[in-house]
Amino acid sequence: MTKTALITGANKGIGYEIARLLGERGITAIVGARDEERGRAAAERLGQPFVRLDVTDAGSVTAAAKWIEHEYGVLDILVNNAGIVIWNEDAGPSATPVDDLRRVYETNVFGVVTVTNAMLPLLRRAPAARIVNMSSELGSLGLAMDVDGPFWVHNYLSYNSSKSALNMITVSYAKELWDTPIKVNAANPGHCATDLNGHSGLRTAEQGAAIAVELATLGADGPTGAYLEDAGPIRW
Ligand SMILES: NC(=O)c1ccc[n+]([C@@H]2O[C@H](COP(=O)([O-])OP(=O)(O)OC[C@H]3O[C@@H](n4cnc5c(N)ncnc54)[C@H](OP(=O)(O)O)[C@@H]3O)[C@@H](O)[C@H]2O)c1
Repeated sequence: MTKTALITGANKGIGYEIARLLGERGITAIVGARDEERGRAAAERLGQPFVRLDVTDAGSVTAAAKWIEHEYGVLDILVNNAGIVIWNEDAGPSATPVDDLRRVYETNVFGVVTVTNAMLPLLRRAPAARIVNMSSELGSLGLAMDVDGPFWVHNYLSYNSSKSALNMITVSYAKELWDTPIKVNAANPGHCATDLNGHSGLRTAEQGAAIAVELATLGADGPTGAYLEDAGPIRW
């Protein structure tokens, strides 16, 4: 039977590539996007369904879950990909407005929990559902504290801590779902050229999508509660 996936923030960037690559594997990849016009246009290009979904708007998330239930009755894969950054953090953590943290957390942290909880009943109906949370190497505490490493200088309070929180959220759900076939993992796409970073990344969005696709299609012997990139596990 054809599997069904929901990818949040799939109208562009890494999320779009995840939807495209899952589609290439014969999976119905529902394009979740907050903007109806951009989302529909992306879904049309991909030949995939569209659902409007703003991860910060619980009503839209509930409506999306209801629509998926009505259309498919089940959800095999959830990729929590939608994410934002506010690039004004070079002044350091002490100069970062608390409201910036709130805004980033609304999407990168609370949005993931909202979407996951809304989709969980549908994921539980699948034989072996997969949840993938798009994290970042900037969320790694170990890499952040490596004085000689490349991440020491990237001390962005709101974005980095939001991804660290997402890592713990990943572990927390993996533990709750430990005795079920559902696997929950965090993906590090690496530094990819997308709108998020003014296209400064050295990797393509397609390259960034690959690890999420791998975790979305893990076999029964795959990990849960892991933090992975192309090369394998990444330091928490
Ligand atoms: N690019 C990198 O180097 C990199 C590295 C590590 C991790 N990541 C993570 O990878 C994920 C995708 O990033 P990207 O680089 O592809 O960024 P992007 O091109 O800016 O795409 C982000 C996507 O998230 C959507 N989004 C933002 N807020 C949303 C909301 N409230 N509800 C629904 N959708 C929302 C955006 O929609 P709109 O078009 O409407 O804004 C867009 O579709 C993010 O979680 C990011 O943190 C990226």
